[in-house]
Amino acid sequence: MSLIGFKPTNHPQQVGKRGASDRVDERITPAWLYESYHARFGFTLDAAANEANAKAVKHFDLESDGLTQPWAPHRVWCNPPYSNLGGWLAKAHAEFQAGCPVIVMLLPANRTEQAWWQDHIEPYRDRGIFMRVEFLRRRFNFGMPGNLEGKFHSSPPFGCVAVIFEAGI
Ligand SMILES: C[S@@+](CC[C@H](N)C(=O)[O-])C[C@H]1O[C@@H](n2cnc3c(N)ncnc32)[C@H](O)[C@@H]1O
Repeated sequence: MSLIGFKPTNHPQQVGKRGASDRVDERITPAWLYESYHARFGFTLDAAANEANAKAVKHFDLESDGLTQPWAPHRVWCNPPYSNLGGWLAKAHAEFQAGCPVIVMLLPANRTEQAWWQDHIEPYRDRGIFMRVEFLRRRFNFGMPGNLEGKFHSSPPFGCVAVIFEAGI
């Protein structure tokens, strides 16, 4: 897919100007992808969700605010709002320290020069301590409200990466 004509809507520059947009943030993980990670890690909490798109029975939404709730001792799935990636990664580090045995975050793989990656992932990843990254094959469609599998939408022009916090990896 060409990047020509693509208008990003949740890069830090736009969010800084107009604030976060829930319409833009609600990009739903396709079931096949979530299930492949759930089979490996057995999640018990979806930290960023709403009633319609929650992947786990226990979840936090905008109102309960996953950024201010304790996540530990849950096994956490988190496809965070892209409008505040640094905030969600800082929270994941804190909750891993507080006792979450595993946290998996689904993130864009095309912004690794930005502060959220450089501050919260690059110094820790793949050093045999507690964080591993898995770059995912191909670009896939995210779901949208009312269209959970994203059928007939074109995939966004970036790949994704799963960032895994787990002791002993
Ligand atoms: C990228 S979507 C992920 C949806 C779904 N849980 C999944 O994994 O596919 C992010 C979701 O987080 C929600 N959200 C935004 N701010 C939040 C907050 N402070 N606490 C919890 N959820 C939040 C949005 O409403 C949106 O539904």
